[in-house]
Amino acid sequence: MFRLIGFAAFALFAVQIGALTVTPAAAADRPVITVYKSPRCGCGGAWVEHLKKNGFDARVHEVPDVTSYRAKFGVPEALGSCHTAVVGGYAIEGHVPSADIKRLLRERPKARGIAVPAMPLGSPGMPEPRKDPYETLLFDASGKYVVFERH
Ligand code: CU
Repeated sequence: MFRLIGFAAFALFAVQIGALTVTPAAAADRPVITVYKSPRCGCGGAWVEHLKKNGFDARVHEVPDVTSYRAKFGVPEALGSCHTAVVGGYAIEGHVPSADIKRLLRERPKARGIAVPAMPLGSPGMPEPRKDPYETLLFDASGKYVVFERH
């Protein structure tokens, strides 16, 4: 009988330990970002690693046609890069630094999203040692944009 109670207590303890390892608070600290990239795109993969290292829960979808996701999420074609992502209701286009995404989620401006057009050397995920100046742009659904951050 005591042995049975002991086992029951142990089982309950084990369940509690199990619950502790999946605390929702830890998940909330890591915003989920859904990334659409081409399977052939190595720099997109490097950008995903940059996000993971900087506190994002990146979920990657390899897609054959990245362009259609720009249209789907309202990213102006003129601001296009090599991958498109969605986080907290915003579209993220190209090699946007994680700090800019955190600022976007903190300030929550009225906008469709932010973009780093093309693939500037020195932006996160672009491995070149050379660093070109580039801008992160805040755009709305009509395609208008303003500078959000200079790098
Ligand atoms: Cu790229």
